[in-house]
Amino acid sequence: MPVSDYFHREIERLKRKDSHRWLRTMEGPTAPRMQVDGREVIVLCSSNYLGLATHPRLKAAAIEATERLGVCSAAARLVAGNNEFYDTLEEQLAELKGREAALVYSTGYMANLGVISAVVGEGDVVYTDALSHASVIDGCRLSRAAVKIFPHNDLNALENLLKAEGGLRRRLIAVNGVYSMDGDLAPLPDLVKLAKQYDAWLMLDDAHGTGVLGERGGGTAEYFGLEGPEGVDIEIGTLGKALGSFGAYVVGSQSLREYLINRSRSFIFTCALAPPALAAAIAALELLGQEPEIRQRLWDNVRHFREGLHGLGLSTEPSVTHILPVMTCDRRQTMALSERLLELGVFCQGIRPPTVPQGTSRLRFTVTAAHSRADLDQALKAVEKAFREFALL
Ligand SMILES: Cc1ncc(COP(=O)(O)O)c(C=O)c1O
Repeated sequence: MPVSDYFHREIERLKRKDSHRWLRTMEGPTAPRMQVDGREVIVLCSSNYLGLATHPRLKAAAIEATERLGVCSAAARLVAGNNEFYDTLEEQLAELKGREAALVYSTGYMANLGVISAVVGEGDVVYTDALSHASVIDGCRLSRAAVKIFPHNDLNALENLLKAEGGLRRRLIAVNGVYSMDGDLAPLPDLVKLAKQYDAWLMLDDAHGTGVLGERGGGTAEYFGLEGPEGVDIEIGTLGKALGSFGAYVVGSQSLREYLINRSRSFIFTCALAPPALAAAIAALELLGQEPEIRQRLWDNVRHFREGLHGLGLSTEPSVTHILPVMTCDRRQTMALSERLLELGVFCQGIRPPTVPQGTSRLRFTVTAAHSRADLDQALKAVEKAFREFALL
C-alpha cells in the first residue's frame, strides 16, 4: 500500500471513531480574549495562569535578550549553547523550590522522558498514577524499568505494590502535583511517608502547581508545607504555563543535577533554549516574588467562575484548583458542545479519550489572573445557554 493511502485510511478511521484532532489557529496576543476564525472569543483553556505571557516585563526581557544574544542558542548546552542566562535561572528555580540545584530542560515532556529514563532502568521499578501525564507515562516506558500503575490517588493500592516488589535495585514513585485534566492534587504528605517507609524515591511533576500554589508560588510541595529536601526527591516543572515563557526544569540535589547532565539523553542531545525564552522566565520568577497580588487575582477569579458553574448546577469535582473540569462523558456531545461554545464566543477545548479515560470526556475550563469579571460572567452566560441547548441543564 502506498504510504499516503495508509495515512489517509488511518485518518478516516480516527474520524469514524470521533477521535480525529486538528489544529485551530489562534490570532492575536496570548490574552484572555483572542480571535478564532476572525471572531473574538474568551479563552478558557490556556495555561497562561498568571497572564504573564504578555506581561510588559517579560516582553521587555525577551526583547533585550534578543538584541544582545540573538534568537537562537545554536548548540546543545554541553557544546556551545550554555548561555549566560542559565545560571541565573537555575539559581532562581532552586531558590523558589528550596532545593540545592536546578537543571533547565527544553520542555516538560523532555524533562519527564529524560529524568525518569536516567534515574531508573532495567531491573528497577517505577510506580505511577493512572492519571499521570502522558510524558510521565512515556518516561516510565522509555526507562525499561518495570512499570506499575496504581488507580488514581489510591495509596492502599500503591502500598500493596510497594510491599510486593521488594528486592529490586531502585524504586521510583512518579506522580503529578496537580492532575492536569481533573485539577485535583496528589496526596503528597502520605506519598512522602510511603516513599520513605518503602525506601523508594519520590518524583513530582508540578507543571500545573508551580507559580500558582503556595504562599510564594512554589507549587504543590509548598502548598503542603513540604518544600525542600525533606519532601520529594526530584521535582519537575515547566516554564511554559504559569511562568509565561517556554522550557522546563528539574530541581533536587546538586548530585542529581550533575548526574542528569551526564546521563539524561533528552538533556544532552538537544539544542539549548533560545535566549528570549530564558530571559522571560527569569523576569517571571522575579515577578512571582514581587507581585503576589497576581496570584491572589487568579484565586479570586477561580472562586468566581467555580461558584458561577456551581450556581448553574454544574459540578467541577474533583477539582480543588484553577483547572475546572465539567464532565460531559460522551465524546461526540463534548466536542459538539465545545464547538457551540465557540460560536457563542467562548473557547474551551473539549477533552476526550485517549487524553482522559473512556467515558470521562469533559470540558476543561482553566481560569487565569488576566480574565476580567466581565470575561467570566459573559462566559458563564454562554455556558448556561449551550448546556441548556444540549439539555444538560
Ligand atoms: C502534567 C504535565 N507535565 C508535563 C507537561 C509537558 O510540559 P511542556 O509543555 O513544557 O512540554 C505538561 C504539559 O501539558 C503537563 O500538563
